[in-house]
Amino acid sequence: MAPEEEVAAEEARVGEAVEQNDIAISVRGLKNSFGDQVVHEGLDLDVRKGEILGVVGGSGTGKSVLMRSIIGLQTPDEGEIHVFGESMIGRLDDEALAIRKRWGVLFQGGALFSTLTVAENVEVPIREYYPHIGAELRDEIAAYKIRMTGLPAEAGPKYPAELSGGMKKRAGLARALALDPDLLFLDEPTAGLDPIGAAAFDDQTRKLQQTLGLTVFLITHDLDTLFSICDRVAVLADRKVIAVGTIDELLATDHPWIQEYFNGPRGRAATAAVARESGKAAAHPSDGRQ
Ligand SMILES: Nc1ncnc2c1ncn2[C@@H]1O[C@H](COP(=O)(O)OP(=O)(O)O)[C@@H](O)[C@H]1O
Ligand SMILES: [Mg+2]
Repeated sequence: MAPEEEVAAEEARVGEAVEQNDIAISVRGLKNSFGDQVVHEGLDLDVRKGEILGVVGGSGTGKSVLMRSIIGLQTPDEGEIHVFGESMIGRLDDEALAIRKRWGVLFQGGALFSTLTVAENVEVPIREYYPHIGAELRDEIAAYKIRMTGLPAEAGPKYPAELSGGMKKRAGLARALALDPDLLFLDEPTAGLDPIGAAAFDDQTRKLQQTLGLTVFLITHDLDTLFSICDRVAVLADRKVIAVGTIDELLATDHPWIQEYFNGPRGRAATAAVARESGKAAAHPSDGRQ
């Protein structure tokens, strides 16, 4: 290599290093299949530190499988996954423990343990990852996490069956925050909530993300969530991420699914609602949250 080429190559590496530093999750060439069904192939995605990345795509396009691959619950056929610069594929559980402690997950449907109270649910990850923490401190941490998500303190001793849908989601969020994560995975957190409950959950997510400096991987098909709190949006289709960017950037692409999704009647209503909220004249009448 000629000296000037070496310098150029070095500069490229330095540029890459700086850029890599800003990346919380990097997925390259991901392939997942179940029998004959190929769910992902050649899927690439970067999630930047400190952003709320919305992940959208039709039902069954592999949004949950993507999340499960990143958190190690699904072993991909091919590909590379790095979280905070550490390779996650083929690592033994305890090797990756330091990274696993840095994320919290709210699974699709909430997935609270029905035989445990809210406080006991929140304590599950603390017991698992910090077994030396005593009962008193564990209770205090759980109470604090419960309050952080906007639940009343009285929710702690209740069982999931005694909670409304919105409260269950918040309890799941409290459990996801139990270990003070840097990274939060939320799988369809507002599905099944009424519009007011969904908007309140979004606000809480944004507030927590800002105060705690979280990176959020947010799977949703809630257009209001996408428009109101996501910094960027990744679109899953054709087994890969076909586009990622701000909503304005996505609208500038001419992919039919993206146009239909964001420019269909629901997309227009969400745009109008956001415009109204920010004091701009709404271009379209809105029937509110979908
Ligand atoms: N454990 C599994 N075994 C077999 N097929 C699965 C499994 N998990 C997911 N799939 C299939 O993979 C596809 C993507 O699923 P999923 O990621 O849950 O979709 P979504 O985008 O709606 O979250 C679906 O067709 C689903 O049936
Ligand atoms: Mg799903």
